[in-house]
Amino acid sequence: MRLSLAGAVLLSAAAYYVYLPLPSGVCEPWKLMLLDALFRSFMRASDVAHALGVCHRVHLLSQVVSWLEVIEARSCPAVHVTDSPLGGAPTRVFQPKGGRKLKRGILYFHGGGWALGSGRMRSYDLLCRKMAEDLDAVIMSVDYRLAPEAVFPSQYDDALAAARAFLTAPVLERYGIDPERLCVSGDSAGGNLAAAVAQRLGSDDTLKVKFKAQALVYPVLQALDFHTPSYQQNQAVPILYRPIMARFWLQYLGADASLEPLLLANNHSSLDQPGISAAVRSKLDWTALLPAERRKHFRPVVRETGSPGVADEMPALTDVRASPLLAEQGVLGRTPKAYVMTCEFDVLRDDGLMYARRLQDAGVAVTSDHYEDGFHGCMVFAYLPMMSGVGRRSMNNYISWLDQNL
Ligand SMILES: *[C@@H]1O[C@H](CO)[C@@H](O)[C@H](O)[C@H]1NC(C)=O
Repeated sequence: MRLSLAGAVLLSAAAYYVYLPLPSGVCEPWKLMLLDALFRSFMRASDVAHALGVCHRVHLLSQVVSWLEVIEARSCPAVHVTDSPLGGAPTRVFQPKGGRKLKRGILYFHGGGWALGSGRMRSYDLLCRKMAEDLDAVIMSVDYRLAPEAVFPSQYDDALAAARAFLTAPVLERYGIDPERLCVSGDSAGGNLAAAVAQRLGSDDTLKVKFKAQALVYPVLQALDFHTPSYQQNQAVPILYRPIMARFWLQYLGADASLEPLLLANNHSSLDQPGISAAVRSKLDWTALLPAERRKHFRPVVRETGSPGVADEMPALTDVRASPLLAEQGVLGRTPKAYVMTCEFDVLRDDGLMYARRLQDAGVAVTSDHYEDGFHGCMVFAYLPMMSGVGRRSMNNYISWLDQNL
């Protein structure tokens, strides 16, 4: 009797910790709540360690991730898995056994806010195995350097160097990859790197071999507006809360974490910032780039006066290598055909939707794949025990787009 009472108390305490009011329409809300409770616990633990001076919060998080998630390269009957550097970056390579002689090739950048994650994590390893097997493709999953040790442009430089190496004859020949069937892809911060690399290499006339496709999964593409309708609507939706995204940006751009409130107020992109021209602003003007059903009732937050000098202190804020949404139309027009996945319950939804629209306006063939019940990270978390339906669905559609377009 006493035991069951204690059990009930514990259970309700746990339910209280896990429970979070979520917008109606999220796919399997209890699974998302559990995932969020897990993340929040790790975040708290790392905040405490950070405050006590034990270690940087990101280090504890990456340590936990590597204990729980990083696995050795293990081949299976269908896919040969090895670790081998690409353009200087450690890379996990997935080669299907059997199948066609010349294979498709996909270069993949994992997500994690430019600070966390690895291609050697269980979730990414499993995703790449499935891609290799289902698509008869060689997948190369790149471990670019991470913040806080490495900041912009290191992550971008690593991604670009890996992509340049990927496109060379020795690498393509070594792995038996068809130079006509190459794709660059990534999710979240990895989608940012994939988009930036696609822009840079699309405009490079010296290259003989180019990417045929770019597949961007809920990518992060700009840091000037933290009040897009999706930032406003989903600021408290797990797992990518609005302040967390601002913090990732500050860390990536090598700026001080104390600027977070300022970014969240859009003070860094106020009209009196001389470094941000009207032409730049128009590239993320969601009042023009988004359809009414996405703008909903939300109003833009544009400050006349903000915090003076911030944009000048952070020149990378308007650097297209960090914010691919700010690219010129001519650059966009030279990028390969695109797949852009977006989720309704994701602060980054409008980054992706605006990019899809701008690519389309530039004459690129775009498949915009939107999930009305999706949340940030759903595709990659599809392999966790609490795998969600939208995770599986989005993964299948992503892979079938690659199958039809690569
Ligand atoms: C944003 O800028 C306004 C006007 O300069 C200022 O009053 C406000 O304190 C700033 N907010 C933050 C969070 O820095």
